[in-house]
Amino acid sequence: MVIKTTLEHALKEGLALTFDDVRLKTGHSEVMPDNVNLESKFSKNIGLKIPIVSAAMDTVTEYKLAIELAKLGGIGVIHRNLSPEEQASQVSKVKHHLNGLIDKPICVYEDESVSSVLLKIKEKGYSFLSFPVLSREGKLVGLVTGNDFDFCDNPSLKISNIMSSQPYHGKEGMSIDEAYQKMRSEKKKSIPLKDKEGRVVGMYVFSDLKRIKTRSAENYNLDSNGQLRVAAAIGTGEEEIERASKLVEKKVDVVVIDTAHGDSKAVIDTLREIKKRYDIDVVVGNVSIGESARRLVDNGADGIKVGQGPGSICTTRIIAGIGRPQVSAIYDCYKAISDTNIPICGDGGIKNSGDITVAIGAGAHSVMMGGMLAGTEESPGEIYFYEGRQWKLYRGMGSLGAMEESKSSRQRYLQSDAGKNRLIPEGIEGRIPYRGKLSDVVFQYVGGLRKGMGYVGAGTIEELRDKADFDRITNSGFLESHPHSIKITKEAPNYPANT
Ligand code: XMP
Repeated sequence: MVIKTTLEHALKEGLALTFDDVRLKTGHSEVMPDNVNLESKFSKNIGLKIPIVSAAMDTVTEYKLAIELAKLGGIGVIHRNLSPEEQASQVSKVKHHLNGLIDKPICVYEDESVSSVLLKIKEKGYSFLSFPVLSREGKLVGLVTGNDFDFCDNPSLKISNIMSSQPYHGKEGMSIDEAYQKMRSEKKKSIPLKDKEGRVVGMYVFSDLKRIKTRSAENYNLDSNGQLRVAAAIGTGEEEIERASKLVEKKVDVVVIDTAHGDSKAVIDTLREIKKRYDIDVVVGNVSIGESARRLVDNGADGIKVGQGPGSICTTRIIAGIGRPQVSAIYDCYKAISDTNIPICGDGGIKNSGDITVAIGAGAHSVMMGGMLAGTEESPGEIYFYEGRQWKLYRGMGSLGAMEESKSSRQRYLQSDAGKNRLIPEGIEGRIPYRGKLSDVVFQYVGGLRKGMGYVGAGTIEELRDKADFDRITNSGFLESHPHSIKITKEAPNYPANT
């Protein structure tokens, strides 16, 4: 652990600092921004290719944004204002967007008619046409592909009449590498895997493996099966532990216990229970005090989420009078758990790409963002026009609208039983400019982080955490930092003129 003098002195005086109070000092550098390594971790066992996580909010992360963010190297946390079934199905959509090993391939039976299978494909909206074929005893007896359907001009035939019998197959446990080599040497586009009893236990498809094995998926955030990584939020209590079981069933990579006050009995009980029941990484939050972070780690947390009140839509600090400016909050938690291998995610308050560098410099391994990602094409909600500009809605999970609509939101702010006109919001609802594709937006954020690392002389995220040192700045310094003495006539892609 490295003591960051400015932050340390401030904390000792009881002074908590945030992004606009500090800037990173430059250091001697041999690092070129293009060559820095941005790999990091969201939780003990779940890595990131870029240290960016999307917020578990109903105007930020559903499956579309989670898919795109994982393809850019980050991870999305699917929000919990969804029924457990709907949330689990969204997790499944992310996991099955790209396949490495398809562990439960859709199969058809040999005695089904071609027409009934074609109907099923249409009804279920399958985008693929290769299916392992089973006998009614559940054994693999053939493989039917798009070609077989294309060349079949009698839909009343049985699948057994058009399939290739004794298909090329692999054994349970076959690796992606092995399957890819076999596919290339045997010119097979799919390989079903069988167990000792002849039952189908998986399938590989060539187009999926090709994407994984060639550079096109090099920067994707993938699990060991070659599937995109995704996280999902839950609350506390037995019902939410049940929600976790549905998410785990769909192979979610991380469960996030998403609460406004992570250092509470309900959270710790839920954490311990989940760790007891499931083999899954659990990120827990939110906290802002080192001691709280330590308590969560001691109770089994695999990642800590830091942030009480820094969010762009939060009013917790104003309504409840609590919370801690974010840079000091991150630093305090960093100090408290730096002797463990548990990563910290700095959640909320990022307004510009430079804040990402600052958050990591203060000790975070990743940042969670809501407002910075909510205005993208992939976030939930429609784009609308107002005063000649395109906008999207963005709201706090503790806003009146979110709490009125969802029990989960009410639970996050400990108002599960409150009547509708008795809610005490801790967030607001508003609009933010439409920002276009997530990939363009994230490109700018990552570009800014790379630049910052170059200035500090840090080639990796760990080096940035170690080397970063801060100056505290005054209000004049803050004003000097932003463009001044000029009227902006052309908006830069990484500096909105209205900030
Ligand atoms: P940003 O600044 O990225 O913050 O927009 C996103 C984070 O804010 C938290 N959050 C809330 N906090 N009231 C709060 O006090 C709310 O209504 C609310 N909704 C979200 C959350 O941690 C999120 O990741």
